Amino acid sequence: MQIFLNDRIVPEHEAMVSVFDHGFLYGDGIYETMRSYDGIVFMLDRHIERLNRSASLIHLTVPSPDNIHDAVYETVRANGLKSAYVRVTVSRGKGPIGLDPALCPKPTFVVIAEEFREYPEKYYNEGVKFIIAKTRRNLREALDPKIKSLNFLNNILAKIEAKKQGAYEAVMLNAEGLIAEGTVCNIFFVRNNILCTPSVDTGVLDGITRELVLGLAKGTGMQVWEGNFLPEDLFSASEVFFTNTTSEVMPVSQIGDVKYAVGEVAKRLRRLYRERVRKAVMDDA
Ligand code: PDD
Repeated sequence: MQIFLNDRIVPEHEAMVSVFDHGFLYGDGIYETMRSYDGIVFMLDRHIERLNRSASLIHLTVPSPDNIHDAVYETVRANGLKSAYVRVTVSRGKGPIGLDPALCPKPTFVVIAEEFREYPEKYYNEGVKFIIAKTRRNLREALDPKIKSLNFLNNILAKIEAKKQGAYEAVMLNAEGLIAEGTVCNIFFVRNNILCTPSVDTGVLDGITRELVLGLAKGTGMQVWEGNFLPEDLFSASEVFFTNTTSEVMPVSQIGDVKYAVGEVAKRLRRLYRERVRKAVMDDA
């Protein structure tokens, strides 16, 4: 595998980061996950924008948008990929032990691109199981979930809870007990034909897929509601699904003991999402 490290492509065995990198020592850094279809990195500009927002919120310098854009494409092409999982990571860089970012003069910039492993079609046809995690999503005043940071430990704990209970994913609540999001995804549900999703103010990452899916739903004339919701609201939903860059729109079959049929809204939105991807590929070709 070929990796983009700082300013150039290197073979994987040469892509080494120091044990003194503050990304490793303190989780001091940010990242973005993207997906390419037919060699086109979908919504790349939006991901670069969000990376820049995360960077400015943690006072980190990242390469220019053009340089990030070029590095991403260079990495995808260097690995001969069409359908790829792409990850951009920027950490504070190497420096002596201590929290002060000023100890690290040069951020570490890494792009990884690997063959995208498709999720089993069964997940889309039948849905996947969730639990409601005991571990809460970050308090906005502590570490704003808007920062897509290298600190994912509470989400990882929620994922462990899910796996222990035989589930695929977990719904995380915020500190007040409102539904926030999944460990790596945004949650949607349908009630009385209204598409509901927790508002960004509940303390969630404003997913790029979430935004696109909300727009697609509005385009079909569907009423959407970004608000404050309790777990009970999910339990009385007619369907539940989640979104993120890699899974696109994936239905939820069960949360705890409550079961859901794969709904028409999720199916329609996945189809529309796929059409949007196809259009992006055609426009770029
Ligand atoms: N995760 N919420 C969280 C906490 C996330 O980590 C993600 C993305 C999302 C969805 O964002 P988007 O639609 O922009 O992918 C919501 C990616 C997939 C990851 O961590 O790899």
